[in-house]
Amino acid sequence: MEAVPTWARLLEIVTAVGFILALKGLSAPRTARNGNLIGALAATVATAAIFFQIEGLKNLPLILVAIAIGVGVGWPAAKRVQMTQMPQMVALFNGVGGGAAALVSVIEFLNVGAGAAGASIDKIALGATVFTVVVGSISFTGSILTFMKLQELMTSRPVVIPLGKIITPLVALGVIASAFMLVAAPTNALLFGLLVLSLILGVLFVLPVGGADVPIVISLLNAFTGLSVAASGYVLGNVLLIVAGTLVGASGTLLTQMMAQAMGRPITNTLFGAFTAKKGDGAAGGAEDRPVKSGGPQDIAIMLGYARKVIFVPGYGLAVAQAQSTLRELADLLIARGVEVDYAIHPVAGRMPGHMNVLLAEAQVPYEQLKEMDEINPEFPMADVALVVGANDVVNPAARSDKSAPIYGMPILDVDQAQQVVFLKRSMRPGFAGIENELLFDPKTTLLFGDAKESLTKVVAALKSL
Ligand code: TAP
Repeated sequence: MEAVPTWARLLEIVTAVGFILALKGLSAPRTARNGNLIGALAATVATAAIFFQIEGLKNLPLILVAIAIGVGVGWPAAKRVQMTQMPQMVALFNGVGGGAAALVSVIEFLNVGAGAAGASIDKIALGATVFTVVVGSISFTGSILTFMKLQELMTSRPVVIPLGKIITPLVALGVIASAFMLVAAPTNALLFGLLVLSLILGVLFVLPVGGADVPIVISLLNAFTGLSVAASGYVLGNVLLIVAGTLVGASGTLLTQMMAQAMGRPITNTLFGAFTAKKGDGAAGGAEDRPVKSGGPQDIAIMLGYARKVIFVPGYGLAVAQAQSTLRELADLLIARGVEVDYAIHPVAGRMPGHMNVLLAEAQVPYEQLKEMDEINPEFPMADVALVVGANDVVNPAARSDKSAPIYGMPILDVDQAQQVVFLKRSMRPGFAGIENELLFDPKTTLLFGDAKESLTKVVAALKSL
């Protein structure tokens, strides 16, 4: 391995600090944009430095073409993606990262040559190579499958294949056994066997995860990719890859834990719940024909305009409709009439962590009006109206009482405790978890059907004319 020049070592420290500052910035909506820019700048500098660091870099045109393709595909895709499609985007990019780490390790393995089997090969480096191939491949196929589930290219429900309970552990055992054998006696055939088994394991790992748990699995796979990149940094002798990979691995693991906690269930339940689920779990059928109370924009405007205290509950539908600014306009009008307005933020409302905070920050909603779940829940009984805009699962009382519901145990916003509840949604379709919400049929609930932005615009107009 070539000696790294001092300037490159110094730059490594600067860019590593850049990655850490980026993460720090990304932890709050106010600083997230800067954090993102610092991270992107650090990654660009780190990549560019390689060109000056390695003398007589081989395959330069090929590398440049690969970079051009990556930028050509990634840049417009990231520009065009809707905020609600962000998890799919993360899944795809994550898969590509894991796949790249695995490929690099396969090539390193082939370069060193299995022929050199035995004494001369550094077993720790070989172990890191094998680890990267396994974890990177699992992350690659797992992420692609997660992307397909989120993009609804296949069912987003848990898929349990026949004998899955036996096949999955067998494949996992096969991966572990061939990984150890490969480190003990490296051969190309064994490497390809391991590669194929790991790719299959990625698919088997994600298939039984469904519904509301899919975003959690993305975060877990993200942590996997981080770990495989860190290990590939060891293989390539690149300190920055080790630092960046470890940061992604650690933050991905923490995020996975936080999301599982916010949904009130252990991560093992998320990953393997489908194997233990009873048939018919979570299907609360038969309620479609029951009557619901629906109202017009004028009715809702009167309810809100003459209330003392209103709590807004934003959810995924608000993001789909891009109705955040209209919701804020409604809040401003109500506050001007002397109504107390708060926004209740559930930790997993929307489709990614902090989704609602980002959305509402975009509409310049003052931070002091945003209340986290534990803070706002005791206030619902005092609220005259809870206005639920495009949220469903995070206010579904089944999470408290229905043991068979997939969201059972998830802490929810106590919207049902408010004096009156208004739902803005387009239809009687369920939320992400695919289960019905009894609260929609409650006598104190009024539904205003339609796209959230259109409905809010009508309510705002009606309120202005009160
Ligand atoms: P959901 O339960 O998915 O409900 C969204 C509601 O919005 C639906 O009832 C839908 O009904 C309505 N909607 C969709 N488009 C709309 C539009 N244009 N105008 C008006 N309404 C619209 O959302 P939630 O309550 O925010 O819950 C989030 C779900 O994601 C939970 O199950 C949570 O566990 C899961 N999840 C989130 C995360 C993170 S980190 N946020 C992570 C893992 C899982 P209609 O189709 O009838 O309009």
